Amino acid sequence: MTTLTDARPARATPATTGTTATVHDVAPVLPVVGADTLVPLVDGRRVPYANLDVAASAPALQAVADRVTQVLPLYASVHRGAGYLSQVSTALYEQARRTIGTFVGAREEHLTLVTRNTTDSLNLLAGCVPVDQATGARGRVLVLDIEHHANLLPWQRVTDATVVTGGHTVAATCEEIADELAAGLAEGRPYALVALTGASNVTGESLPVADVVALAHDAGARVVLDGAQLVPHRRFSLAATGVDYVAFSGHKTYAPFGAGALVGRRDWLDAGTPYLAGGGAVRRVRATTTDWHEGPARHEAGSPNVLGAVALAAACDELAALDTTVAREHEDALRRRLVDGLGALDRVEVVHVWDDAVDPVGVVTFTVTGYDPGLVAAYLSAEHGIGVRDGRFCAHPLLGRLGFDAGAVRASVGLGTAGEEVERLVAAVGALVCDGPQARYDVVDNLWVVVDDPRPVPEGSGLEGLLATAALGADEAFGCLPGDA
Ligand SMILES: Cc1ncc(COP(=O)(O)O)c(C=O)c1O
Repeated sequence: MTTLTDARPARATPATTGTTATVHDVAPVLPVVGADTLVPLVDGRRVPYANLDVAASAPALQAVADRVTQVLPLYASVHRGAGYLSQVSTALYEQARRTIGTFVGAREEHLTLVTRNTTDSLNLLAGCVPVDQATGARGRVLVLDIEHHANLLPWQRVTDATVVTGGHTVAATCEEIADELAAGLAEGRPYALVALTGASNVTGESLPVADVVALAHDAGARVVLDGAQLVPHRRFSLAATGVDYVAFSGHKTYAPFGAGALVGRRDWLDAGTPYLAGGGAVRRVRATTTDWHEGPARHEAGSPNVLGAVALAAACDELAALDTTVAREHEDALRRRLVDGLGALDRVEVVHVWDDAVDPVGVVTFTVTGYDPGLVAAYLSAEHGIGVRDGRFCAHPLLGRLGFDAGAVRASVGLGTAGEEVERLVAAVGALVCDGPQARYDVVDNLWVVVDDPRPVPEGSGLEGLLATAALGADEAFGCLPGDA
């Protein structure tokens, strides 16, 4: 056990000195399940949980949960069952596929694959990037160093990937992309694909997608968009942007039932190695040869996740029906308050990638000088009932380049977030800066915990304690530092 509590109170700074008006009165846009869940604090009180970790996983929309409850009695085997409910389940699954595709503007020549999540989708696509006839290697992929590991490692592993260091401005970064694409052409080694985030999971910032698409297409490359953080926040359309593939996750899109999606041009997908080998992906199997399906079935071997797909489709329906102005105003107000409120506090630094980014989504990352990010996150949970994320957010290259190798703290908001939750965070960080943490904290197996944590686990949860993951050993439990996930 290492004692690392570094509490160095600074001069008093009111928590409400932000330059924007407070957002106490801003109401959620849509109801989410669990919005009124109470959580215990170390001082024995219970408070409503402030879920400001929506970028990691968003709570289910109430409409999504209702839809799942509605179809659960209809659930039966899919695709190969002749029974009535099997046919209903198959129809539900295929209808969900169409809804998901339509939601992201799929065109005639696009396929919609139901996957597990964004990571799964991007790994699948990586295996479909055509092999370069000249080199015998999979085609070249250009990726920036700002990406989540899910949009970096699949390309590093199975393609000829080049990681380009982004610039300090959006304009400079677009130039870096243009230069690298031009160099590929000049060398006679053109890029096959540009893999781009729709919105950074660290700062919510993004590059102008249509501009990058134009650069890539001019150089003969396709574009895959990591839509994990974009799709839940903005109306995105393949048809409108010209993006060739988009990947996103149900659990970040208010449908935490285990499904994600990859939508895009069918030629690579039809020709690519089937992602999983098994039942459902094949037309005919002999002892030594297999005739694989084309279309979605090629990559969806095994029993499909019907309820996950239906849940994701229900979320898509809800998001499609939203008044985008209302949603945007809600998110902008909360984000602005986070940036201004936190930024006005002593010793708090708000992280950004670019000086000239426009229209970021509701993700705000910050550090508090003198406090380990893990301690800040543990404090916010234990003393204020606020859930945030800490670590390097599976974006090690970016955090390293920006000088935050020790990690940071991330707050993120969504449609179910109330302004009052954001105010609680700003006030809690203000109290930390002024007074330091009130409880005692320690690091156990790389995880910041409260010493002798008195908080009970939820009744009926079957848990023995909150230290379950620490007791397992963080490496064993996470395979990386807690908070990196
Ligand atoms: C930008 C981005 N891409 C990809 C992922 C991976 O998503 P998933 O864990 O759902 O596969 C995440 C997850 O946080 C993300 O934020």
